[in-house]
Amino acid sequence: MEKSEFFGIEKDKYVPILKDEGIAFLFDLVKKEKPKKILEIGAYIGYSASVILSACEGSVVTVEKLPENAVLAKQNLKEFGNRAQVLNEDAYSAILKLEEKGEKFDFVFLDGPKGQYFKYLPHLKNLLNSGGILMADNIYFHGLVKKEGPIIHKHRTIVVNLRKFISSILNDKDFTTTLYNLGDGISVSKLK
Ligand SMILES: C[S@@+](CC[C@H](N)C(=O)[O-])C[C@H]1O[C@@H](n2cnc3c(N)ncnc32)[C@H](O)[C@@H]1O
Repeated sequence: MEKSEFFGIEKDKYVPILKDEGIAFLFDLVKKEKPKKILEIGAYIGYSASVILSACEGSVVTVEKLPENAVLAKQNLKEFGNRAQVLNEDAYSAILKLEEKGEKFDFVFLDGPKGQYFKYLPHLKNLLNSGGILMADNIYFHGLVKKEGPIIHKHRTIVVNLRKFISSILNDKDFTTTLYNLGDGISVSKLK
């Protein structure tokens, strides 16, 4: 699928969607894992959700905080009917509600606020079925997460929290995690 055609996005214009190699990676992983229920944190305008829905027969719940993005995501995902549900809500509040309801997912694609991944992690673990996958994008945050030395104040909290996220997921014996140097860094963790 040509993203500029599908979403009316001008080529070469910066938009915060997964870039080509990340998209191919996500598509292949979803195709291989065949998840039935998928949770996405950070819909933006629904591009990655459309890739997930094209790669499997499952259904996606995607969470987006900004109303204007959520409206566009709903429009762009209309063709998938009731396989796509867009929640216009803060991700943490949506995650806690899903957890309280005892919902379970086979695949979680984490692509929302980078500084919150660490806070979300224990809750997302509770939302995963055994054998489920947690894929997180932008874990190296423009390379700053791997950079030695001081980090400018503006990015410090995000970088510190992403380091905590990476360390927790690598040290969690319930997950088997692989880190990929693709794009801005991707982690894939399989729950035992
Ligand atoms: C990187 S973009 C998502 C791109 C999308 N997954 C794709 O590849 O097509 C991140 C999105 O997360 C949303 N976001 C940021 N903070 C959020 C929060 N606290 N709760 C829910 N969504 C949030 C942003 O508005 C933005 O649309």
